[in-house]
Amino acid sequence: MTNFWQKLSKPISVLSPMEGVTDTVFRERLCEIGRPDVFYTEFINVDGLVSIYGLSDLRLKFSKAEKPIVAQIWGNVPDHFFKSAQIIQNSGFNGIDLNFGCADKEVIKHGCGAGLIGDFSLVAKIIQSVKIGAPKLPISVKTRFAMNSNLTNDWIQFLLEQNLSAIVIHGRNSKQNYLTPANWQEFEKIVKLRNNLKSKTLIIGNGDVISYQDGLNKADKYKTDGFAIARGILQNPWCFLKTKIKDPRITQRLILLKKHVELYHQVWGDLKSFATFKKYIKVYIQNFPEAQALRMKLMEANNHQELIKLIEIN
Ligand SMILES: Cc1cc2nc3c(=O)[nH]c(=O)nc-3n(C[C@H](O)[C@H](O)[C@H](O)COP(=O)(O)O)c2cc1C
Repeated sequence: MTNFWQKLSKPISVLSPMEGVTDTVFRERLCEIGRPDVFYTEFINVDGLVSIYGLSDLRLKFSKAEKPIVAQIWGNVPDHFFKSAQIIQNSGFNGIDLNFGCADKEVIKHGCGAGLIGDFSLVAKIIQSVKIGAPKLPISVKTRFAMNSNLTNDWIQFLLEQNLSAIVIHGRNSKQNYLTPANWQEFEKIVKLRNNLKSKTLIIGNGDVISYQDGLNKADKYKTDGFAIARGILQNPWCFLKTKIKDPRITQRLILLKKHVELYHQVWGDLKSFATFKKYIKVYIQNFPEAQALRMKLMEANNHQELIKLIEIN
């Protein structure tokens, strides 16, 4: 097995998955702007992946430049995890991540995502199925805290005993929304537990990191092996750069937006509507005085050609 996780220098930076946002086009654009050490796909449902439509799942798409890239899967049927793991290994991904952390009410109601926290026997079966399905790939888990600290402790200890390559932990439980700050202090205890158990599993902290420097400070202070950023990239697409840069000029922002919409159209064509692209306008056009007015103008575009024209005249 080639385990890319073991080859990375610490602290390891990860682009945390965001459904509907961190697709192959966004990730490829980040390769030019400032990339993390590891990319993740958006979460992919195993029931869908093993169906006849599975291989056409747009989330399976990636380009070579994005490597190392980890495919994240979710569900609760071990056999579907097994078959999905085979598909992912054959598709050339560098790793598989199991989502045991999604706090979406529907996902939890169906016993998936964070709904699996504490279901030790089913989770053990899922992990075993993935190991058999993709023996060549390192396996990681993305999870979050349980509803009480005793269960969090048992849950993390259980995961540490599964011989995983990495655990990405979001420092909140499934009832806490983003207004509650992520609890990074807890990660220090988890790292101690990992060390006591003599486990080799990497611990990646996640929650409220806004820049590489911020991640570096948090990883250093709380002794994690790395950090994962999700929403921070939406505030600042340069957030993975190791050195702070001067605020990019408006023209540079517009050039990047243009490259993004062009690649989006080239890769997705009619598979994704232009309306779903509009969320990226704000990613580039913010943090300068005229940003809101410019955004409003650009938002008037009805398709990619109109947006490109508007960019060119601004
Ligand atoms: C729009 C959105 C979509 C998300 N989709 C996923 C997902 O597909 N898989 C996953 O594990 N986490 C998902 N998350 C959670 C993030 O990866 C991350 O754990 C969480 O936002 C905390 O990190 P942050 O404070 O850096 O945003 C999503 C979060 C957001 C805001």
